[in-house]
Amino acid sequence: MSHKILVTGGTGYIGSHTVVELQESGYKVIIVDDLSNSNINVLDNIEKITGVKPAFEKFNLVDSERTEDFFRRNVGIEAIIHFAASKAVGESVEKPLLYYRNNLVSMINLLECQIKFDVPNIVFSSSCTVYGQPNILPVTEETPRQDSESPYGNTKRVNEDILRDSIAANPQLTGISLRYFNPIGAHSSALIGELPSGIPNNLVPFITQTAAGIRGELKVFGDDYNTSDGSAIRDYINVVDLAKAHVVAIRRLLKGKNKTNYEVFNLGTGKGLSVLEIINKFEKATGAKLKYKIVPRRTGDIEKIWADTNLANKELGWKAEKELEETLLSAWNWEKRVREIK
Ligand code: WQD
Repeated sequence: MSHKILVTGGTGYIGSHTVVELQESGYKVIIVDDLSNSNINVLDNIEKITGVKPAFEKFNLVDSERTEDFFRRNVGIEAIIHFAASKAVGESVEKPLLYYRNNLVSMINLLECQIKFDVPNIVFSSSCTVYGQPNILPVTEETPRQDSESPYGNTKRVNEDILRDSIAANPQLTGISLRYFNPIGAHSSALIGELPSGIPNNLVPFITQTAAGIRGELKVFGDDYNTSDGSAIRDYINVVDLAKAHVVAIRRLLKGKNKTNYEVFNLGTGKGLSVLEIINKFEKATGAKLKYKIVPRRTGDIEKIWADTNLANKELGWKAEKELEETLLSAWNWEKRVREIK
């Protein structure tokens, strides 16, 4: 009998790729999503890829009654992967209370239902943003977390603490926080990918939209950082590699292989790349010529970060495998399919 997994935010970018990997690994998935930042047709595309259309319910986890009703009707859920959250860094600075309410209250409602309805396992979608600008690189899971420059980043750090403390008080629970670095790319089918609403915040969708002619030119936020070419450095990880890590984490909890009831893992490639290097790699991989200009730094950006991936490699037996060129090409193929560019 296949394990039943709840994926909150499962029609989103990372969520949808994770649902594909879960279903291809034989798990039964039910998605809860309020569709505030994703499209219902993702369900059909997940079915095209895997042959299975995931069960789906539309509501926001901030609604505690609706959330409790969901768990009362959906018995037998053995684990949760919690992606659902507001995630636009800039918007969170303008609307902090919306972000604290949405991201923290939904986590609290979920945990209360886990306790009430005996759902023992949870994997939480966290972020390297909890490290702020680290003093020492690469960052390990022991690197001290810092106040984030954005309410969005703070909600990730606080939610980790909410999860950690809830597990400490309820030993029947086990949880893993996965700290993503910079997820990029799309499924090789180009049927699912990153589809930001409005002007993209993140680098790679802005690059692909510029290459597709939707944006006039890419702005490179700063070339005066203390890096080899002056542009900022990040650890860009393929979204399918990231999705696979969630299946490994879920399996770890279901099989009781976790060493402690609460664990944290960095999910990156271990390699830092600058913005200008990404632009160069994109042009090489796709043959597209990118129009860009250097502008002043973006407020809140850190200079450089990349992961020490030893713990995930050793404990999870997981490693990011996809090459950067393949990843950037997958992002471009997705953009072309969405815009019906030949
Ligand atoms: C990457 C680099 C920009 C856009 C954020 C969140 C993190 C995660 C990923 C959710 C930076 C530069 C970007 C552009 C640019 N989000 N850039 N021009 O800020 O590292 O991380 O998104 O899980 O939690 O903090 O990602 O893609 O916005 O920026 O020059 O148009 O690209 O300055 O150096 P970031 P990003």
